[in-house]
Amino acid sequence: MRLIFVGFGTVGQGLAELLVEKKDLLSRRYGLEPVVVGISDEMKGSVINPAGIDLTEPLDLLKSEKSLCDMEIGKYDGNALDMIRDAGADVMLEATYTNIKTGEPATSHIKAALEKGLHVVTTNKGPLALHYQDLVQIAEATQVQFLFEGTVMSGTPLLNLLRETLAGSTIAEIKGILNGTTNYILTRMEEGLPYEDALKKAQELGYAEAVPDADVLGWDALAKVTILAKVVYGSNADPFDYPCQGITEITASAIEEAKSRGKRFKLIGKVWSEKGIAKASVAPEEVDVSHPLASVMGATNAVTVTTDTLGDVTVVGPGAGRKETGFSMLIDLIKIASEIRRKR
Ligand code: HSE
Repeated sequence: MRLIFVGFGTVGQGLAELLVEKKDLLSRRYGLEPVVVGISDEMKGSVINPAGIDLTEPLDLLKSEKSLCDMEIGKYDGNALDMIRDAGADVMLEATYTNIKTGEPATSHIKAALEKGLHVVTTNKGPLALHYQDLVQIAEATQVQFLFEGTVMSGTPLLNLLRETLAGSTIAEIKGILNGTTNYILTRMEEGLPYEDALKKAQELGYAEAVPDADVLGWDALAKVTILAKVVYGSNADPFDYPCQGITEITASAIEEAKSRGKRFKLIGKVWSEKGIAKASVAPEEVDVSHPLASVMGATNAVTVTTDTLGDVTVVGPGAGRKETGFSMLIDLIKIASEIRRKR
């Protein structure tokens, strides 16, 4: 399987590290021996090599503050769309930054790759929240896989759970903490850290979006509830059709005051079906400290799915992070490899 990375920031590098670390396991357990033939990154440079790129080289270069232009072989001047056209890849791993208002540049990358017959794995929420139906249709027409497990709850399995494991269930509601950055900030503020310092730390830890406004204004959680509404209820609503409020107005003293009443602020994303129509919202809520969601701290996410078959099913796990989101792409990659093998 020949891969290209489009976007080689925190998430792309997280996946690359896993591919290096788990090389033997992937080969032994799944017969998966991927060859990376290109890496394209707007900021870090681009490289192409049909013979395969040893991922340790770009990872080491970027760790020492160098760029992909310093690679020994294969420096490439084209952009991501050129690489999608020229690299001869089977799979594109799209992990550029999310823009929830335009979905670009990721939507153009994904469209080009799907139209060319490449399987696509992405963690980018913009294209899914804005153009889900269009992209799925292209993937169906060109008979390739379009997978995006990491768009919601990073590598913690939620979309696969909803689409496969809970097959046959009717889902009344999905509700919980869907943004790691804001949950981390609220946790650290309760410990006494000022808002700005907590946000900076979330950026350092690789939780926050490239422009962290998207986290603190609630847009990231909004993109996620929109994706859930599309995947679970077939909605075609736009993210900004739904009410959305972030955490920017929650002060340290409000957190303290809530605590004195036995409450804790959590940014809650919800999606539910009302008379066959998908509804969604994002807003901070004061939850009782005895409530299970109150004990979910740091960048951890937690979501309760209300079903007609099992009642409530709750998933708790990492919602953001380098390795955690990189891992979501690995899950999708293994799935593509299995599907290709099954069809042979
Ligand atoms: N910025 C996002 C978060 C990353 O903090 O949850 C994962 O989608």
